[in-house]
Amino acid sequence: MKVLVIGGGGREHALVWKLRQSAGVEKVWCAPGNGGISGEAECVAADAGDVSALVAVAEHISPDLTVIGPELPLVNGLTDAFRQRKYAVVGPSQQAAQLEGSKIFAKEFLQRHNIPTAAMYGSYDSPGAAYSALCSVDWPVVIKADGLCAGKGVFLADDPDAATGFIERVMEKDELGAGGRRILLEETLEGDELSFILLTDGERSASLVPTRDHKRAFDNNEGPNTGGMGAYSSDELLPEALRQTIQTTIVEPTLRGLAKDGLRYQGFLYVGLMLTKQGPKVLEFNCRLGDPETQAIAARMDFRLAEVLADVAAERLEPAKLKWKRGASACVVLASGGYPGKFESGKEIKGLAEAGQIPDVKVLHAGTRRKGDAIVTSGGRVLGVTATGDSLAMALQKSYQAAGKIHFDGMHYRKDIGRHPLQSTAAGD
Ligand code: AMP
Ligand code: GLY
Repeated sequence: MKVLVIGGGGREHALVWKLRQSAGVEKVWCAPGNGGISGEAECVAADAGDVSALVAVAEHISPDLTVIGPELPLVNGLTDAFRQRKYAVVGPSQQAAQLEGSKIFAKEFLQRHNIPTAAMYGSYDSPGAAYSALCSVDWPVVIKADGLCAGKGVFLADDPDAATGFIERVMEKDELGAGGRRILLEETLEGDELSFILLTDGERSASLVPTRDHKRAFDNNEGPNTGGMGAYSSDELLPEALRQTIQTTIVEPTLRGLAKDGLRYQGFLYVGLMLTKQGPKVLEFNCRLGDPETQAIAARMDFRLAEVLADVAAERLEPAKLKWKRGASACVVLASGGYPGKFESGKEIKGLAEAGQIPDVKVLHAGTRRKGDAIVTSGGRVLGVTATGDSLAMALQKSYQAAGKIHFDGMHYRKDIGRHPLQSTAAGD
């Protein structure tokens, strides 16, 4: 099997790693890939958002299977373009990808199919209407830009001044581009967050192991939001009763809703949940795998990923094929100095070989590129140091031990990935 992976972050490195380990895979290509991926797959220079360039890549390679990592190509219709040309592809159609591409579309879907979610006050396409609506909301209020905004489109406003400032920035000053021209206002939910990711062929579905992301830049959930500074997975994250509730109140109505609305979905569906006192509620849908959740999920995979994904593309998923390593996994993201704000690139990364020698550790690359014999930084999130262990504590210990071997100028990372559950257990809640 010849496999093409679209994207070039830590999530795609994790996919390439597991696809290469699958029996029957002859070769993996990745467009555009990164410095770490280039040691395991043939990287092809192409912009992951450019549908016609990627179609040209596929025509050159003739892949037996294509796996699309990021949201941009999905929202731009890459799946449809590949299907028209009879390439087997894992990813939702452009229409179904609107579940991530438009928060208003997603909210209307959730409401139409009675799936628990935060109540929406309204959606607005003019700043005047949005300012007026602030008179009748409860505080704090959540403001969401409708379109793709690279993780910057959600704002929790404590008071009218903060809300007005955000609305002005996105709707009047266009700071988030076209993604911010429409917004919605919704109720603020409280609770712990959980990333629940499904793989579906449109009819059948299998849930992946549960993960939790750490979105804030600094320890103790302080600092600005990022793409994700680390993730972990352990079965304890999701007690059986909660899994059942999520299955019956969220997963099943979502899959029925997709079918009823004629939204074609063969791929990963990421359901971001808030575990509230009234039960789990949907915060967001992503039409893809999460990053860095995928790194933690991939580390626990104990099945042939290529075979399962080929089944999904052919609409014959067998959920029983997804087998998982017991225990836990953790991924600690090493970021560039200044991230998620401005940062410098081109810093040489040292210690990768030493870190990779620690048993059960895999260093997954995100913002890296090769420069001669060296690997240098090329993005905000640089590496995801990923490890498995019999327990979460052991997985974390190995990830941090490996992270301690790596160095580049300005490097920073959170020291408290996975701490939250240990603390809550100790506190008895
Ligand atoms: P989203 O891009 O919709 O996932 O939102 C990003 C983050 O904003 C989520 O992971 C939550 O931490 C937070 N968030 C989104 N919606 C709400 C809400 N209704 N109440 C509280 N927090 C929210
Ligand atoms: N880690 C969150 C995301 O991938 O959207």
